[in-house]
Amino acid sequence: MRRGSTVQLALFALVAGGLGVLIAVLPNWLPEPASREAGRIHFVFWFVTGICLFIFAIVAAVLAYSVWKFRRPPDDDSDGPPIHGHTGLEITWTAIPFVLVTAITIVSAIVLAKDDAAGANPLRVDVVAQQFAWSFYYPSYANKRSAILMLPVNRSVVLRMTSKDVIHSFWVPEFSQKQDLVPGIHPTLHITPDRIGTYPVVCTELCGAGHGLMRSQAKVVSAAAFAKWAKGGPQQQAAASGPALFTSNGCNACHTLAAAGAHAKIGPDLDKLQAEAARAGKPLPAFVRESIVSPNAYVEKGFPKGVMPKNFGTILAKQQLSTLVQFLVASAKKGTK
Ligand code: CUA
Repeated sequence: MRRGSTVQLALFALVAGGLGVLIAVLPNWLPEPASREAGRIHFVFWFVTGICLFIFAIVAAVLAYSVWKFRRPPDDDSDGPPIHGHTGLEITWTAIPFVLVTAITIVSAIVLAKDDAAGANPLRVDVVAQQFAWSFYYPSYANKRSAILMLPVNRSVVLRMTSKDVIHSFWVPEFSQKQDLVPGIHPTLHITPDRIGTYPVVCTELCGAGHGLMRSQAKVVSAAAFAKWAKGGPQQQAAASGPALFTSNGCNACHTLAAAGAHAKIGPDLDKLQAEAARAGKPLPAFVRESIVSPNAYVEKGFPKGVMPKNFGTILAKQQLSTLVQFLVASAKKGTK
């Protein structure tokens, strides 16, 4: 290869490499991190991605340049020049990847170790998943139960996972970590939220018909606001309104109920409860209560048995169950007027 074309090739490759990296890095592909772990994970992601993009762009540019520069006319049937190896080149393209891969290994190992360290005095939260809702319990605060994940900013948190039925997966995009919830085992996840705000909690494991609606919120608040909320006691929950209970227990993931703004069609339409109670041959309030506590006692025609979780009788406090039954009965009566 002539000296001039080698210089041309090198320049073309470097410019293409730089442009490729810019195009890939400039758009905001990832959500803004909201935890220290996420910040470190993003650093590793861009460290590795940057290296890969640069190498890819150089290789692709050299290839494209060679195809164009060294092409032969269609009637040229002569052999190409004999090629011998180039020791210098071979040492270079072995040594550079070795250094890069070693660097990636070291950076990843440091980040993994740091993300896995829970820090001193972490806050423990028990994350409970069931078809199709999340619940969060705070053992250090009288096992307070919440439908949203309240977290104090800048404090290390250990999330302990429990699934009551099938495999779910916990994911907050802004925290950058996912953890499967497998029945029978209790994995943990360490998070240190460092940005106040509200972020989505998403189930990322196909867990049944209501999977797409199995969502909650993670709310990162100041330490003072968290303490105030945590000491608010369980009566807040018990005193929750019918629509709030309906949503926080995930009923809206499967059922339609105009009074709660729910439009899901996995389970029976709860605006038609009166007709359903008539078909079941039971008075409305008793029918509603039974359908929540033992859902398989009567299953509306056209809906499969065993889809509705059987444990609402134990999850809901007595007063919550009564509130929910009253709310459903009242809205069913309103619906038919
Ligand atoms: Cu739970 Cu998908």
